[in-house]
Amino acid sequence: MKFYKVFLCFVISHLFTSCGKESGSNIDNLIDYDLVNLQEVNYRPNFHFTPALHWMNDPNGLVYYKGQFHLFYQYNPNASVWGPMNWGHAISTDLFNWQDLPIALSPDNLGAIFSGSAVVDTTNTSGFKNGDEDPLVAIFTHAGAQQMQSIAYSNDGGVRWTKYSQNPVLANPGIADFRDPKVMWFDEQKKWIMTLATGNKVSFYSSPDLKNWTFESYFGENYGAHGGVWECPDLFQLPIEGTTRKKWVLLVSNFGGPNGGTATQYFVGNFDGHVFTTETTDVRWIDYGTDNYAGVTYSNLPASDGRRIFIGWMSNWIYAGQVPTTSWRSTMTVPRAITLAQQGNSYKLRFNPVVELEKYISQPDEPTILNTGSSIQLTDNDIIKSGSYNLSFSADFSKTDSLVLTTGNVAENLKIRFDKKQGNVLIDRSHSGITDFNDQFKQKIFSPMDFSGTNPVVKIRMLVDKTSVELFWNNGENVMTVLYFPKYQYNKLIIRGNPNAAIISNFSLK
Ligand code: FRU
Repeated sequence: MKFYKVFLCFVISHLFTSCGKESGSNIDNLIDYDLVNLQEVNYRPNFHFTPALHWMNDPNGLVYYKGQFHLFYQYNPNASVWGPMNWGHAISTDLFNWQDLPIALSPDNLGAIFSGSAVVDTTNTSGFKNGDEDPLVAIFTHAGAQQMQSIAYSNDGGVRWTKYSQNPVLANPGIADFRDPKVMWFDEQKKWIMTLATGNKVSFYSSPDLKNWTFESYFGENYGAHGGVWECPDLFQLPIEGTTRKKWVLLVSNFGGPNGGTATQYFVGNFDGHVFTTETTDVRWIDYGTDNYAGVTYSNLPASDGRRIFIGWMSNWIYAGQVPTTSWRSTMTVPRAITLAQQGNSYKLRFNPVVELEKYISQPDEPTILNTGSSIQLTDNDIIKSGSYNLSFSADFSKTDSLVLTTGNVAENLKIRFDKKQGNVLIDRSHSGITDFNDQFKQKIFSPMDFSGTNPVVKIRMLVDKTSVELFWNNGENVMTVLYFPKYQYNKLIIRGNPNAAIISNFSLK
């Protein structure tokens, strides 16, 4: 009977993304059975976007229009591995409750549809307007014999798309890796700016109409990390917290991440409509976990909202095609708001989950709230057993040198260690469950951590959703996003620091 129920849900989960929620609790009772064929049911997250079926990578075309967040994504509708790329499509009014829409762009005789962006052409610079809606224009890479940039437009608010008849709009100048256009309106000079990944640097182009593009400048050959070609850039302006000044931020994704494989770096500096100059010359990573790649931000959010919202692909090219979900592969990160803080003479990006998440965090009958303590030990806890939760607490590092958080079951666990002496945070997933699909997956994952600040109390927030941990501390000063694949439901959470001192406060689990 139990098997029958799970099988049914497994089948249904191919059709509806939401099925995972119910099926997660069914599987609690099934740990004695062979889970191999059931794991995708278990692994379907509750509050993260996943494709109902098959392969997904980068988020594309993140654009907000008339109350709706559009999420396009690199998608292979035919298999759960990378293949001929389409733009899959989903929309949401709150960034969490996603509705799947038909594929927006499919391969054609110019090639597959690689990553890119979308804008709202409010003043109809492109001349694509036809009807009441502002035209939405997608700018993407056509990847055929060569990579080149093309456009498509929508006159119904972003549901149906027509490719421009005179594609490509930017031909390949002889650079093999020439892709992932991110376009924004540069109001001061009334022109569009395209930031494009071109080999080991980015190139900026400008255009009056999204159809004719002029090269402006290069950036990056001598800056940042270069473990592989640069991909998926994004350029946007942010206010410096607590001031009226603004800075330009450039995101770039590439191999050579701090813990192996792919990761995203950033630069903070100036952009004058032609040239980007950086004021951060050391390598900066937006996330020290292994599983946040190719992330970009929303365009066209109204000034009244004012946020810069980011979504990343929660995987790593080293093992993305091997992770043990089979009918679907890959998850997006929780949408995060990016802010910019001044730090001495330099700058720091902060990433925090968007507030819309609060609505999706289940409110238990009795939330576990604890004001102070020396350690936490929750065994057979229903919230932990659900595999999806939001944990936050503060830890006073004036009274301890380390803090270890372990979640797991009798056979498997994931450990997180904050270590003041080493000045770092370690995530060890080597015994977290299924790890043998790729050697890299067992490697320990480190982030530097600055314990030298004047406030020794570190605020820690952890989002857990079936196969992922997103760990934020000190209001998003640093983030670690890490995947894991338990074979059996985790049922314990233990946090230990100094047994003789009440170092934990404001503990909340929901
Ligand atoms: C980044 C990337 C992009 C490319 C896309 C192809 O993950 O390699 O550069 O456009 O994936 O799917």
